Amino acid sequence: MENIFLDFTSESGIFKDKEVLRPAYIPAYLPHRKKQIKNLAGALSAALKGETPPNIFIYGKSGVGKTATVKYVSTELEAICKKIDSKCAIVYINAEIFDTQYRVFAYLARVFNKRVPMIGWPTDMVYSEFKDGVDAEKRCVIIILDEVDKLASKGDEALYNLSKINSELNNARLCIICISNDVTFMELQKPGVRASLSEETILFPPYDAYQLRDILVDRAEKAFNISVLDDEVIPLCVAFAAQEHGDVRKALNLLRVSGEIADLTKSKKVHVEHVRRAREHIDEGRITEVVKTLPLQSKLILNSVIRLNSEGGKTHLFSGEVYNTYQNICDHLGIESLTQRRVTDLISELDILGLIDARVVNRGRYGRTKEISLIVPTEYVQSALTGEYDEALLSIKQKAESSTA
Ligand SMILES: Nc1ncnc2c1ncn2[C@@H]1O[C@H](COP(=O)(O)OP(=O)(O)OP(=O)(O)O)[C@@H](O)[C@H]1O
Ligand SMILES: [Mg+2]
Repeated sequence: MENIFLDFTSESGIFKDKEVLRPAYIPAYLPHRKKQIKNLAGALSAALKGETPPNIFIYGKSGVGKTATVKYVSTELEAICKKIDSKCAIVYINAEIFDTQYRVFAYLARVFNKRVPMIGWPTDMVYSEFKDGVDAEKRCVIIILDEVDKLASKGDEALYNLSKINSELNNARLCIICISNDVTFMELQKPGVRASLSEETILFPPYDAYQLRDILVDRAEKAFNISVLDDEVIPLCVAFAAQEHGDVRKALNLLRVSGEIADLTKSKKVHVEHVRRAREHIDEGRITEVVKTLPLQSKLILNSVIRLNSEGGKTHLFSGEVYNTYQNICDHLGIESLTQRRVTDLISELDILGLIDARVVNRGRYGRTKEISLIVPTEYVQSALTGEYDEALLSIKQKAESSTA
C-alpha cells in the first residue's frame, strides 16, 4: 500500500518558503516604518551610554507592525550591546499568555535566575524575588510588555509596580515598553502610571494601499517561486487588507491561504480565483468562530432572523418581528424569554460583531424602530448554529420536558 504521507512529500511548485508568510516570522527589513524604528532606536540608545532609556508606549491598530518593529529594534540593540560589551538585558513578554500580575512577575523572576513557582506564592513575594533578581547586577534591563491591554483589568497592580520600580532598585535600571492596539489604553490608566509609562509615545499609523503593496511584494518575493503569482493577486490582497484598516497580518494570511489553495488544486500559478476562494475560506472560519462562542440567547435571536429570512423571504426585518419570532422559539423550547429591552441590547451586540446590521428607522406614526438585516452569508451562520447549538437546545428542551412531566 502507498504511504499515506507520500502526497505531502512532493515539493511545492508554488512556495519557495511558506514560513515567511507566517505571523511568527520577523522580517529583517520593514518598509515604511523608518520613522518608528528611528524614534524607538533613538530612545533606547540611552542604554548604550549607560543611561536609562525612557519608558515607551507604542500604539496603533492591529497588524501594523508594532511587534515586528519592536522585535527588530531589540535584536539590533542586543547585537550592538554584545559587540561593545555593554550590559543590557531585553525581555519580551506577551500579556496574552502572562495575563496576571503573578504570572508576569513569576516569569520575570525566573528569567533573572530566581526559583519561583508559576502558582501558589503570595504575589508580593514573587514581586520581591523579581526585584532582587533584576537588581543583582549593574545593568540596563528593557522589559517589553506586548498586548499590555490583556493585562489591564487584572494587571493594574503590575503596571503600578513597574511604573515605580526604578526608585526601589540600587544597581539595575529598568525601561518598560508597553505595546497595545487599544489606542485608549494609556488614557484609562491612573495619572501617575500613565505619566511614568508613557514618557515617550510612538504611534504606528495604518498603512495605505501603496505601502501595503510594497510590504507584500517584498514578502512575496521571499515566499513564492519566481513568477507564480498572477499580476492581479497582490493588488487584490492589498484591496482586501485596505478595507481592514491596513492590517498586514490579514493580507499575508490571505496570500498564504491563496497559495495553499493553488498548491492543493495542483495549479501551477496563483490566480485571482484562488484569492477569492481563500477569502471565503477565511471569512467562513471567522464567522463560524464568532457565532459558536455567542451566548445561547444571542444564538436564538440570530436564529429568529434567519428563520424570518427563509420563511418570510424578507431581508429587512423590524425589531418587533424578530422579537415575536424569538419569543415563539423560546416558547417552543421551554426557555424563558428575555425582555424586549434586553433583546435590543443583544441585537446591538450582534451588530458590533459584524453579523447583522441594525439601524434605527422612522416608521411615521408607528414611531422609531430598528431595521435588522443579516450581513454575512446565511450558510456560514447556519453551519455554526447547528451542531453543538442543537445539542445545547436539545438538552434544554429535555430538561424543560422532564420538569413539566
Ligand atoms: N512594514 C512592514 N514590513 C514587513 N512586514 C510587516 C510590516 N508591518 C507589519 N508586517 C508584518 O505584518 C504582520 C503583523 O505585524 P505585527 O505582528 O507587528 O502587528 P502588530 O501591530 O503587532 O499587531 P497586533 O496589535 O495585532 O499585535 C507580521 O507578519 C509582520 O511581519
Ligand atoms: Mg503585536
